Amino acid sequence: MENAQKKFVIKTYGCQMNVNESGKIAELLTREGFERTNDDKSADIIVFNTCCVRDTAEKKIEAHIGNTKILKKQNKGLVVAVIGCMTQKNGAAESLKKKFPHIDIILGTHNIDKLVSYIKEGRRPKTFIEILAERKGSDEILTTTIDQDGQTAYINITYGCENFCSYCIVPFVRGKLISRPFADIEREFDEILRAGVAKRIVFLGQNVNAYEGSGYDFPKLLRYFNDKEGEFSLNFLSSHPKDFGDELISAIKDCEKVEKNIHLPLQSGCDKILKLMNRRYTVSEYETKINALRVACPEVHITTDIICGFPTETEVDFAETLETMRRIKFNAAFVFPYSRRSGTVADKLDGQLPLKVKRERATKLIKLLQDLSKA
Ligand code: SAH
Ligand code: SF4
Ligand code: F3S
Repeated sequence: MENAQKKFVIKTYGCQMNVNESGKIAELLTREGFERTNDDKSADIIVFNTCCVRDTAEKKIEAHIGNTKILKKQNKGLVVAVIGCMTQKNGAAESLKKKFPHIDIILGTHNIDKLVSYIKEGRRPKTFIEILAERKGSDEILTTTIDQDGQTAYINITYGCENFCSYCIVPFVRGKLISRPFADIEREFDEILRAGVAKRIVFLGQNVNAYEGSGYDFPKLLRYFNDKEGEFSLNFLSSHPKDFGDELISAIKDCEKVEKNIHLPLQSGCDKILKLMNRRYTVSEYETKINALRVACPEVHITTDIICGFPTETEVDFAETLETMRRIKFNAAFVFPYSRRSGTVADKLDGQLPLKVKRERATKLIKLLQDLSKA
């Protein structure tokens, strides 16, 4: 395919991990002479970087992929690629191919480094599928990108997750936990500083606290990069409360460049539900950590995630979550109605709740949060 003046669109769904990877793909395509656009109609390439964490995300993405069928009738050369978490799910790539035979390329989460060269091969006579079982370590895209806000750079420090929270599909689609070599992280970090564009650098991983490389655990890593010269701030996403320890709290306190802005997903404010979620902490253990963090950094801003309507959650259990939220007083919370994910432990539990109940509880919780923030 002739690259000159060819235009591409990347549609990104899901978390910061995907946003970061889309940025890298865009960077590589631009280096190859492709031009980025937001206009589907003038695009020669449309990439869907997908998420499957909840069914609402998947439904939306499928509708958007469906729309490109018409675009292909108008532009015979249009290449449609689908990558990311949704394609990595067991059997998902084949079923996407069946539903949308106009897709040219389907790649999973472990080989997006191949995407650009496959795109350059152009349109396919039939859907090309390549899903790898695991990340080989070398298959990362070695380029650095700055977020579209022009301020923030993201650096992956871990890939994958092995926590297996019982509701969550991520360990199945993102694979085993891998800590990136410390030297690679530092090289990327220094490049960002040298370019002098980013004012914030955010370390990324499904559970950054699990980082382990070249003698560095996560608190040590934070301290190390805090000592680099320059005007920038540091942050990280996401932390798992079970691994959020005293060492990390002291590092956050001591490091003047680390933003006092922490996202620590609680998921439920009821011990019975937390246990069924396999989160491996109690509400009181979580609160002890939050209190310690607030003592260490009084100005800290704390946000969280909550899932409503997990299987077997009774009105009494849910009331406990509401009470916990009143007590902890988060600065903000993201609320999600529980979504069944096939293959997970929670999906097989008895006591699945109707969508109506899950949505009502989410609405109630959002209302409480609004009232709390007004007060
Ligand atoms: N690794 C990160 C977040 C992963 S997904 C972490 O552990 O913090 C982002 C959020 O989506 C989760 O915190 C959780 O609140 C929500 N989520 C994950 N699976 C879900 C499901 N099956 N239904 C509803 N929400 C879910
Ligand atoms: Fe999912 Fe839990 Fe891993 Fe987060 S820590 S990605 S919620 S399994
Ligand atoms: Fe979604 Fe994958 Fe992130 S499932 S939330 S894009 S890791």
